[in-house]
Amino acid sequence: MKLATVLHAVLLGSNTIFALRDDPTTDPPLPSIRRSRLSDGLKTLFFAHEDRDTTPPTVAYNQNCAGAVLTGAGYRSVTGTLQIPSIKLPPGANRDKLHAVSAWIGIDGEHACPNSMLQVGVDMYLNNSISQYWAWFEWFPNHSTYLTDFAIRAGDTLTMNITAASLSSAEFAITNHRTGQRDSATLTDPAAAAAAAPLLCGFSTEWMVEDFSASDGVPLVDFGGVAFTGAQFATDSGVTGGVEAAEMAGVKETADGQVVIECEKVGGDEVTCLYRGDAGTNT
Ligand SMILES: *[C@@H]1O[C@H](CO)[C@@H](O)[C@H](O)[C@H]1NC(C)=O
Ligand SMILES: *[C@@H]1O[C@H](CO)[C@@H](O)[C@H](O)[C@H]1NC(C)=O
Ligand SMILES: *[C@@H]1O[C@H](CO)[C@@H](O)[C@H](O)[C@H]1NC(C)=O
Repeated sequence: MKLATVLHAVLLGSNTIFALRDDPTTDPPLPSIRRSRLSDGLKTLFFAHEDRDTTPPTVAYNQNCAGAVLTGAGYRSVTGTLQIPSIKLPPGANRDKLHAVSAWIGIDGEHACPNSMLQVGVDMYLNNSISQYWAWFEWFPNHSTYLTDFAIRAGDTLTMNITAASLSSAEFAITNHRTGQRDSATLTDPAAAAAAAPLLCGFSTEWMVEDFSASDGVPLVDFGGVAFTGAQFATDSGVTGGVEAAEMAGVKETADGQVVIECEKVGGDEVTCLYRGDAGTNT
């Protein structure tokens, strides 16, 4: 990515098989503070070059998102397989307080395409010892949509894929290999529907783990580790590949604070992210 570039993160979607979260009859039983997904409808800043370490491997630290980002042009498809972790309370944290993390793949999470972004992912919440996992998709600037019928539990392996046939139309799919359940939908860019200018750009694609502490004041849950395996992209000119050329982002919750999510590339098509928080920074 360009050094002066600021990266962002967030969301997309529509299909009648999915209930919009705003419908109270189909809302997942999310903790009460969240009528919408954390950071919903925002392009969350996740990357600023000033925070870059000067020694290789280069990692850009920010307060929201950790993972791998490829920048360029023509990104049309992204995929990755996620092993759902058990989540637990950070040491010393208040068990009555909601803790969360999210893992997602996306196109155009990066700032170069400020008005559109397509994502599919899984939110993980822990409140009073209860873990909840919710799959969602979002085409920013629309709000995210939870896949309320999509069952997930710790230990499941999910494959997620986004494929954009054009800059205004895309399909996403998510498969749970334990249950065999597959949800998918063809989506239209919300801006296209409104005859507005900003559409998807295809300037970046990303595999990310998101911390909502800074954006929503919801502390990071201890997720242990999360890996995206089979991390692959495709461009409109038929170029395919993994994450070899990706830049890495990590989360520091404050500018001078400790790193709480650290990621690395493994073997060209895997991104592994570890929880590094501890009591005092994440309670
Ligand atoms: C965006 O929101 C509009 C209005 O609710 C809806 O009709 C459309 O299907 C949504 N599209 C996506 C991709 O979320
Ligand atoms: C956490 O769960 C308790 C019930 O166990 C509930 O009263 C509380 O509202 C929940 N917290 C949030 C943030 O939703
Ligand atoms: C996503 O799924 C589609 C349809 O199965 C496939 O053609 C495409 O190659 C996948 N994308 C990636 C990056 O693997």
